[in-house]
Amino acid sequence: MNINSFQQDLITWFKAEKRDLPWRKDQDPYKVWVSEIMLQQTRVDTVIPYFQRFIEQFPTIQALSEADEEIVLKAWEGLGYYSRVRNLQSAVKEVHEKYEGKVPNNQKEISSLKGVGPYTAGAILSIAYGVPEPAVDGNVMRVLSRILSIWGDIAKPSTRKIFEEAVRQLISHDNPSYFNQALMELGALICTPTSPSCLLCPVREHCDAFNEGTQNELPVKTKN
Ligand code: ADE
Repeated sequence: MNINSFQQDLITWFKAEKRDLPWRKDQDPYKVWVSEIMLQQTRVDTVIPYFQRFIEQFPTIQALSEADEEIVLKAWEGLGYYSRVRNLQSAVKEVHEKYEGKVPNNQKEISSLKGVGPYTAGAILSIAYGVPEPAVDGNVMRVLSRILSIWGDIAKPSTRKIFEEAVRQLISHDNPSYFNQALMELGALICTPTSPSCLLCPVREHCDAFNEGTQNELPVKTKN
């Protein structure tokens, strides 16, 4: 794989084809954080109106940290997985009190916040701060399992580390934000779970699975 050419093909495609999503309007780490928490267990189309209302109601770290929990839970109503928003408000309060309202820009501090796992930490660091950290979720594992022909079982928690290592090798240091978002976007629009649109894929020439015809066998995912 020619890494520079892969990065360029991926990022050029993302610039041209990226969806106009409300959390892509600016790089405010708080807004990136809220969007990534909402997107964890919920589809993009569902998240859009919730995200817009939530940000109108709680536009800043300070606003969310000072809001009544009941009001915050009400704004989340319908999204489910309410521990997500309880953890979010608790972590936002910690940022308000301990970091003067500034979301930490390093792995160690950001990962210590409630509800911020490796995926969310990597997404915020790369998208809001331009730090070249992996942001590996199920979609990114699917995309990279095909491009790199990785046959590890993505249902096993330990497999994510293999993909994070792969992203560390591949990520653009000029534009970590677009690199990570492009992998997510490719997974959403082209490199779908079934019937991936390989003929439309901007990186098919770099893709082992496309070249070997194994795109329908990857990723390996045992059901539990
Ligand atoms: N899924 C998870 N994070 C996303 C993002 N930032 N944009 C679109 N889809 C996503």
